Amino acid sequence: MKIDVSRKLPEHLDTLVLIHEEDAKPEDLDFIDDELKQDLDSFIKAEEFTFAHGKISSYTRMHGKKRQIIILCGAGKNSELNTHKLRTLFANCWRTATRLKARQIHVLMGFEPIVNDVILGHVLAESALLSAYKFNKYLSHDEVHEIECIHLLLSTKNTRHINRGILEGRIYAEATNLARDLVNEPANILNPESLAEHAKKAALQYGFSIEVHSVDKLKRLKMEALLAVGKGSKSDPKLIIMRYMGNPDQKHELTALVGKGLTFDTGGYCIKPGPGMVNMKNDMGGSAAVIGAMAAISTLKLKVNVVGIIAAAENMISGEAYRPGDIITSMAGKTIEVINTDAEGRLTLVDAIHYALEKEKADRVLDIATLTGAAVAALGKDYAAVLGNDDAWLHKLNEASDASGELVWKMPLHEPYKELIKSEVADLKNVGGPLAGCITAALFIREFVQEKPWIHIDIAGTALTDKASGIHSYGATGAGVRLLTSLLRNME
Ligand code: BES
Ligand code: MN
Ligand code: ZN
Repeated sequence: MKIDVSRKLPEHLDTLVLIHEEDAKPEDLDFIDDELKQDLDSFIKAEEFTFAHGKISSYTRMHGKKRQIIILCGAGKNSELNTHKLRTLFANCWRTATRLKARQIHVLMGFEPIVNDVILGHVLAESALLSAYKFNKYLSHDEVHEIECIHLLLSTKNTRHINRGILEGRIYAEATNLARDLVNEPANILNPESLAEHAKKAALQYGFSIEVHSVDKLKRLKMEALLAVGKGSKSDPKLIIMRYMGNPDQKHELTALVGKGLTFDTGGYCIKPGPGMVNMKNDMGGSAAVIGAMAAISTLKLKVNVVGIIAAAENMISGEAYRPGDIITSMAGKTIEVINTDAEGRLTLVDAIHYALEKEKADRVLDIATLTGAAVAALGKDYAAVLGNDDAWLHKLNEASDASGELVWKMPLHEPYKELIKSEVADLKNVGGPLAGCITAALFIREFVQEKPWIHIDIAGTALTDKASGIHSYGATGAGVRLLTSLLRNME
């Protein structure tokens, strides 16, 4: 899809998208001729269209022998707009345009651009490529209509900043769509081994380095927690290590991104009921976010050092699988009583985190995981839960959230709840009971971060959607990719 800036309307207009602030007066608009102005005016009056925020209406008109599509979109009050709302407005315009089979779109902005040119270009391209995404590789027949090009009408001569933003937005969207593809892939196709192969392909394509450890190596590393979770599956666990050194002069400033990589989670012997299991191919959403972020960070050539770690496994049932009551010794040496085999994510994560700190010498660690149903119960499907021990870093994450539009909400690492994960027979137990499940999961992970700066993001609610709307298409959202990429930009 071509996306650029245009200084005038073409002779043969295919589609016009007019985004305007509330109470529009088409006579004030640049770029369009009197005939079109009058036409717009009568449509607006007839429909009593007010350009209230988010309202979209459309019609077609004949221009000579050609059919033209006119889409009107309300920006609402200029003072209430922000980057996030603008991104969604754009995305909904592209969705309407796609439904009407628009090919060449000219966009006319009848409102004060509330953001700078770089951000404007960024959300323009990002919204277009994210809303156009569809996972259709398994559909024998699928007629997707694709918009050919989007031209933003602007009279500015200097398009350098906006073009840079468009390029940036493309990078963010492409990395997000890569993550979506991985998450949408079913578990009969995507297992720990093929996930590692996909990561290798991404490494080659985007220019970061990669190493994959198989079971023998994991045994030598004593990653017993990861191995225990993966034991019931025919597909062996893998440890995927991706490295990007964008600031080699400061080797000691190394950030680890650790992603939960359960290619399927049956729950193990504490088996999930059918309806709770059906979406569990998405339980590697955290690892997809890390792969996507590695791709974006490398393409943007950020001046940061990042190691991405994925402990990939499949939580299955067999004569080999781990059981409730098992006591396992994690790589860090702490023993863990397995109360529930369905609390498997945290087991894989703590070995990966310990590996990141001990073997990769990471200075700080961020983990991202589809970890708890409790996070979904607390915050629903729009907000990811965030916990951490470093306020300055969490502040940067909040800024990244504002920039990316990926919403996060901080939960308390309430010290007294540590009691809930104490075991009588081991150092820790892997569940803390029915209350505060999102918090006790984080407290469990914190036991392995060695007081290093640490952020934990629970994307159990945000990784998946069953409704296409705005930038989200049906299925995987690619949650985390844009958030992590923006965070690392804030750390340059
Ligand atoms: N992968 C699930 C969490 C999950 C739930 C992700 C719903 C997406 C949607 C995780 O491994 C899990 O099963 N968590 C349990 C933990 C419990 C046994 C302490 C949960 O949340 O029920
Ligand atoms: Mn589970
Ligand atoms: Zn899980």
